[in-house]
Amino acid sequence: MEDAFVITGGKPLKGEVQLSGAKNVALKVLIASLFFDATVTFTNIPDIADIRELIHLMSDLGVDCTLHDNHTLTVNPSGLQDKAVDLLHGSKIRSSFMLFGPLLYRFGKAHIPNPGGCRLGARPIDRQVDMLEGFGVDVGYDSTTGYYEAKLKESGLVGNEYTFVKPTHTGTELAIMIASVAHGETIIKNAAGEPEIDDLIQFLNNAGARIKREGNTIHVIGVKALKPQDTPYHIMYDRNEAPTYAAFALATKGDIVIKGVVRSQIDYFIKQVRLAGGGVEETEKGIRFYYKGELKSTNVETRPHPGFMTDWQGPWAVVMTQADGISTIHETVFEDRFGGYVAEMRKTGAKIDFFQPKINNPDSLYQFNVTDPLSLKQAIRISGPTKLHNGVLTAQDLRAGATVLIAAAVAEGESYVLSASTIDRGYEHIEKKLAGIGAVIKRV
Ligand code: EPU
Repeated sequence: MEDAFVITGGKPLKGEVQLSGAKNVALKVLIASLFFDATVTFTNIPDIADIRELIHLMSDLGVDCTLHDNHTLTVNPSGLQDKAVDLLHGSKIRSSFMLFGPLLYRFGKAHIPNPGGCRLGARPIDRQVDMLEGFGVDVGYDSTTGYYEAKLKESGLVGNEYTFVKPTHTGTELAIMIASVAHGETIIKNAAGEPEIDDLIQFLNNAGARIKREGNTIHVIGVKALKPQDTPYHIMYDRNEAPTYAAFALATKGDIVIKGVVRSQIDYFIKQVRLAGGGVEETEKGIRFYYKGELKSTNVETRPHPGFMTDWQGPWAVVMTQADGISTIHETVFEDRFGGYVAEMRKTGAKIDFFQPKINNPDSLYQFNVTDPLSLKQAIRISGPTKLHNGVLTAQDLRAGATVLIAAAVAEGESYVLSASTIDRGYEHIEKKLAGIGAVIKRV
């Protein structure tokens, strides 16, 4: 196997696409289930590589994970062992850091490798470490082994009032999990607001947790134990898949109905599609995205929810190569989200260059830690419309991989997208979904 997709582009993609379960919920609820004494069943689990990686990691820790079909998973955590999280598999997925929650709760200590996942810049975990310390955990990093080592103080996990210096999605989720079983009350301030976090809260509250969100503040009253409901937990659909398929529709001058998308979860994306002159219509089956005439350039700034999400900007960049005029994308969440796709897109003839918008206080706008304000290059300009040509492209990270696949679908002729398995990390059976809307694609 070459680990590549071959796609013959240049034709409008039309039809229906069903969203899969949300990767960024599935990973977290699986980890949360390790707080339980009982078996828990999940439905709508996406059949993606990151989930298989986490199942591997949890099985290595003694947890019994059984896939009943591709989307139903039972987790029996009774065999969870007090051992270090596997270096190789733990460093492949960033969410492995969240295993600190259940391991500290069960054993009072945990050894976890420096988390990996898509790089997207330096991507430190300083905020999570600081938050853990607030709960009474000592955390150290051993650079000779590449492991974080955490140990509970005698007081155990203690509820506290914690304010994140800047919001963090998985950091907020880890704080919520720990607070659910800590002694007393926890107030998490400046918490992240992504809908995936609310699905985790729902799952934990169904299991007896006492978590309440009021905007960016989350109140949690610790309970003695969590116990799952008898009925399986059905996780939400992956809202991040929707802008990807919408971009396939708009950039190829196609027409796609996306099933399973909750409109309020992608409101900001829909707003941009309308500004660009793209068609959007709510239908009984789902939300229809379609090309209805020349696209206009837009200016987008990524923001945490409810803003234009960072995970959507790569696919949007391809749409903007087909729009008339100069579009801009200003990335404010991750420090290196363009690195994955701009160079690849240029291979198809896309006209993209970098610039840095003038900002008075970069440290308050950017969600990442600004270490060198003078070297920032957080925005791109895209000139369009450009006739993209075929090429041999590489999926450098998950969303960048989807981005170059969209570019390949736009370009006439045969293109290769190498490192298809990078796209498999988060997109379920993407070649089948694309073939279902008329794409000429195969895996080689
Ligand atoms: N950050 C720090 N220190 C920390 C934590 C975060 O500097 O301790 C920085 C990050 O480097 C980033 C910013 O703060 O620049 C925001 O990071 P956040 O912690 O919110 O992101 P995350 O939890 O690592 C999750 C998703 C991402 C999604 C972001 C934003 C998962 C597994 N990942 O990342 O999803 O883009 O939230 O919503 O939930 C993806 O699916 O492709 C993906 C990258």
